[in-house]
Amino acid sequence: VTVYVPRDSAALALGADAVAAALQAGAAARQLPVQLVRNSSRGMFWLEPLVEVATPAGRIAYGPVAPQDVPGLLDAGLLQGAAHALCLGPTEQIPYLARQERLTFARMGVTDPLSLADYEAHGGWQGLDRALALGAAAVVQEVQSSGLRGRGGAAFPTGVKWQTVAQAQAAQKYVVCNADEGDSGTFSDRMVLEGDPYMLIEGMTIAALAVGATRGYVYVRAEYPHAVAALREAMARATAAGVIGAHVRGSASAFHLEVRKAAGAYVCGEETAMLESIEGKRGIVRAKPPLPALQGLFGQPTVINNVISFASVPLILARGSAFYRDYGMGRSRGTLPFQLAGNVLRGGLVEKAFGLSLRELVFDFGGGTRSGRPVKAIQVGGPLGAYVPPSKWDEPLDYEAYAAFGAVLGHGGVVVHDDSADMARLARYAMEFCALESCGKCTPCRIGSTRGVEVIDRVLRGEHRLQQAQLLRDLCDTMLHSSLCAMGGMTPYPVLSALEHYPQDFGLAATQDL
Ligand code: NAI
Ligand code: SF4
Repeated sequence: VTVYVPRDSAALALGADAVAAALQAGAAARQLPVQLVRNSSRGMFWLEPLVEVATPAGRIAYGPVAPQDVPGLLDAGLLQGAAHALCLGPTEQIPYLARQERLTFARMGVTDPLSLADYEAHGGWQGLDRALALGAAAVVQEVQSSGLRGRGGAAFPTGVKWQTVAQAQAAQKYVVCNADEGDSGTFSDRMVLEGDPYMLIEGMTIAALAVGATRGYVYVRAEYPHAVAALREAMARATAAGVIGAHVRGSASAFHLEVRKAAGAYVCGEETAMLESIEGKRGIVRAKPPLPALQGLFGQPTVINNVISFASVPLILARGSAFYRDYGMGRSRGTLPFQLAGNVLRGGLVEKAFGLSLRELVFDFGGGTRSGRPVKAIQVGGPLGAYVPPSKWDEPLDYEAYAAFGAVLGHGGVVVHDDSADMARLARYAMEFCALESCGKCTPCRIGSTRGVEVIDRVLRGEHRLQQAQLLRDLCDTMLHSSLCAMGGMTPYPVLSALEHYPQDFGLAATQDL
């Protein structure tokens, strides 16, 4: 009987290894025929470690399972999927999962992440094979007509980027995956790296074929040791199987892929700082233009995409662009893997088509706060994203709809705060974070962030409060419009949204006072 215990690092942090060991020991003692598979997490973190059993009626879930629960579970008939206080029923019918539209995350938690046989049995390499059959130009066209936009946060059309690289003339081109997932409360890249690494390899290989690149790098944040290990192993196995390397799936095209462990700086997630870091230099932002698509890694044309962008491509090729484009709304096509974190009852990964509301996400999926107190603010799009106030919780999650009220979807991170949050302190933190992480290349960010902390401190002390709040706005305006990259350019988002929607936390009666 196959029993699944995840090895995703979120599950490991909650004791999955001890549960796996207890299962094996308990099964051996009872002479039960258990075949243990270490799958990835389904992304329902409040239920981890989530143990699943394969039964004739499908997979049955139990969770959260502690090692001491295991003997009782085995005695109650775990292997038959028997009833138990921890039994959650058929995994796929758990409402959190059943209500999702898992396209990119379809295999997540279902397969053994490193099994090539599992990957093929669940649709793996179909996109790559179609890409090989279509040829480069048609692949670029397919990605363009899918409407896919960069999932790292900036939402630039992926097909347009590939087209630019494809048209560039150069002896060597590169494909680089940005897996320096630095946004607080985000983990979708990590889940792909650990839980479905062949999907990323497939997506990057398709990109390489499309633009004529023969070398690729995945820049993975150093804080993700399990992801680095899983990806390295997956690359070695894919190379040994002839999927990548000198002859991609036996074709005349070559694609050599390597992992680069990141340097541990938030700004190295900015694409040009990342390129510097891969080249072995200090992670300082380069001025654009030239665009990396034309002069990127080692000065050569380079496709740079986020993990989720590449991971979306195999399905687009396998099922066709129209299938993907049918999901979503407006110019936001397909799905986004939202990541629910912070003070939320049911934290985890929710892949849904664009267009649902923050209210559905945080309340229907997330179940409100973990503390049980009212939700006060929700930060969407990472530490540089705006705090979205209750009046905007029914807006559709769509790039343009969010931009219209000064917010961003970014990489899909959603961090929930209850009514004990002090928004002025959070605004101060944003400036402090920027001061700590600034690469120092441009003045508005390097100096502005430090001045920002000082100004907020004066507001909080009540020193010329109105005048200082006005100064804070001016400073934010300067940072927004004259920083060289998004680090300094987006720090004003959390600061201004906190000031605008929660003026009372700054000791101000209302923003109209300003
Ligand atoms: P950007 O708008 O400057 O560029 C987006 C992408 O499009 C880049 O790869 C750029 O090279 C490319 N591009 C732009 N014009 C092009 C053209 N004409 N042809 C070909 N390619 C072109 O945005 P940037 O600075 O790269 O990213 C900022 C975003 O990063 C923010 O919106 C934020 O949400 C996100 N972010 C994500 C984090 C994460 O952990 N995933 C962390 C911090 C920020
Ligand atoms: Fe560096 Fe900040 Fe300027 Fe970006 S905005 S280039 S991180 S100093």
